[in-house]
Amino acid sequence: MPDHWQNFASRWNRLGSPMRPCPEDLRNFQTALGDSKGSCLLLGVTPELANISPRLTAIDNSPDMIRALWLHEKRPVLGDWLDMPFEDASFDNIIGDGCPVLLEFPQQQERFFAEVVRVLKPGGKLLLRAFVCAAQAESPELVCHEARQGNIKGFHAFKWRLSMAIASQTPNYTFLVSETLRIFDRQFPDRQQLAEVTGWDMQDIDTLDLYQDSIALYSYPPLASLRKTLPKALVEIGLMYGHYELAERCPLLILERRA
Ligand SMILES: C[S@@+](CC[C@H](N)C(=O)[O-])C[C@H]1O[C@@H](n2cnc3c(N)ncnc32)[C@H](O)[C@@H]1O
Repeated sequence: MPDHWQNFASRWNRLGSPMRPCPEDLRNFQTALGDSKGSCLLLGVTPELANISPRLTAIDNSPDMIRALWLHEKRPVLGDWLDMPFEDASFDNIIGDGCPVLLEFPQQQERFFAEVVRVLKPGGKLLLRAFVCAAQAESPELVCHEARQGNIKGFHAFKWRLSMAIASQTPNYTFLVSETLRIFDRQFPDRQQLAEVTGWDMQDIDTLDLYQDSIALYSYPPLASLRKTLPKALVEIGLMYGHYELAERCPLLILERRA
């Protein structure tokens, strides 16, 4: 069975906002980073963030994603965010787009934040665009109903919102991502008809098949729960939002490592 990220690497260009950062997200990252000339660690190989700093190091644990997405001349480090091959206090800033969503809540996310704190210099910033479910749980059925009514404009926003609805009803907000596909197929057995009703592109709809047989777990805790997993060493100094569909569930957390 191909690895989850091996599948994604081959179809990356069909994915869109909010999963992939849009130009407004990039501007928000740049604003939050300010004019820092320090060293910067990128968690993952998000191509949109590759030029955000002249002193960037990227770390990702998927050789396929690195091969497919990374065009920058400086090669990324192959490694796990939960156990990074860097000395303590190695970086002035750390940035990541949607990283905790790929880690089980809360244990793996706590380990993730502890490891980030370890490699971040005191006074340094952690900028993280998080994906969170609504504070009030909504059902997958409601999200599908909204789609049928034409109330959800973009397919990628729909897909993310459906996953968030599943998470909001799951203990610890963590679920098998193949569940999103299973519920979708049950609700919409006729994809062509759905495409006609919503105006969504069939090729976009078919990106859901990337979840087929995947053993990946996704986590979307509400923002309040995510905040509770933050170690005391990280202080929230700001929060930025975009204006795109579902932006209210994709806040850019601006955190500072206590000196
Ligand atoms: C940064 S994330 C989320 C997607 C993001 N919104 C984007 O646009 O790139 C995706 C990347 O995280 C990597 N990844 C997932 N879990 C990881 C881990 N524990 N350690 C290192 N990389 C990981 C995957 O290989 C993938 O390339």
